[in-house]
Amino acid sequence: MRIEGKDYRTIWFENNVVKIIDQSKLPHQFIIKDLKTVRDAINAIKIMEVRGAPLIGGTAAYGIVLAIIENKDPDFIEKSSEDLIKSRPTAINLKWGVNRMMKKLSGINSDRILDIALKEAKEICDEDEKFCKNIGLNGLKIIEEIYNKKKSTVNILTHCNAGWLATINWGTATSPIYHAHKKGIPVHVWVDETRPRNQGANLTSYELNEEKILNTIIADNTGGLLMQKGEVDMCIVGTDRTLSTGDVCNKIGTYLKALAAYDNKVPFYVALPSSTIDWDIVDSKDIPIEERNSEELSHVDGLDEKGNLKKVLIYPKKSKSLNLAFDITPAKYVTGLITEKGICEASSDALQKMFK
Ligand code: MRU
Repeated sequence: MRIEGKDYRTIWFENNVVKIIDQSKLPHQFIIKDLKTVRDAINAIKIMEVRGAPLIGGTAAYGIVLAIIENKDPDFIEKSSEDLIKSRPTAINLKWGVNRMMKKLSGINSDRILDIALKEAKEICDEDEKFCKNIGLNGLKIIEEIYNKKKSTVNILTHCNAGWLATINWGTATSPIYHAHKKGIPVHVWVDETRPRNQGANLTSYELNEEKILNTIIADNTGGLLMQKGEVDMCIVGTDRTLSTGDVCNKIGTYLKALAAYDNKVPFYVALPSSTIDWDIVDSKDIPIEERNSEELSHVDGLDEKGNLKKVLIYPKKSKSLNLAFDITPAKYVTGLITEKGICEASSDALQKMFK
């Protein structure tokens, strides 16, 4: 997708380094960063220079490539794969990406290992782009249906950033929106700010602006009122891990938005590629929920009056805070899952039928 009129993907390999867009500096600074070692890749995931479930998976795949460039010793590669998996706990794509790489590389001798790893990492990324495009084409049908009934702008609420910046391209939740816009359907997006890291305000609004899609940032607690007033036609969010039962783990606050949508009969869709499905865990209580540094709550980044990036404390110094990064929306509140293969009910039967 575009930034200042130029097309980008979120990650690519060039001259033996992995290039990423450093999302920790957006929207104020657009910086392309080089990841030269597997440690760089692990760090980029940890400090969220790259984030979003599919992009974390792609970065981890390229992390294995970087490990191989550094040292072809199988023990080093194995240890690197374990460290990559540990870099963030909730998004299942991370483990999925690393495991897929390691499976591909098992038993390969050291002469060919780099070529094979590079090909597989590229394949993982290309596949994600293709799947996200298909999610868009499938989700477009829902937006089209609403537009055909309503004959005026379709208002869509989204939470966090499940946009192209969170994937390799297109995004999950945003892909149907981009496809609708390209088809000439008028859309407007209510962008949840998404405290504490503000991925909605900093990233979703930014990428929608760059694609010239109308959007309005709202404080996280505003969605309920807008739904009561009939100003939300549908919600679309992404997910970091969807269980085979249809329960959806996504950015903290998603659950409350789903409850409000349910109460107001607003359709609540979750968009995901199949790499985000966890086929192993069945009880959502077993999903590891990431707890991040409380500084993300107590401090805010922004530009000062001279245009310099500043971090400021917004709470009493002595106050304690708790920063849980994800929550779980039970399947019963999800109208449907928009996947690369089509739209299905959030249930084990429907997921089995679609993917197994
Ligand atoms: O903590 P983040 O920014 O990595 O969380 C991202 C989300 O919660 C997204 O909604 C999710 O990864 C889906 S991305 C297409």
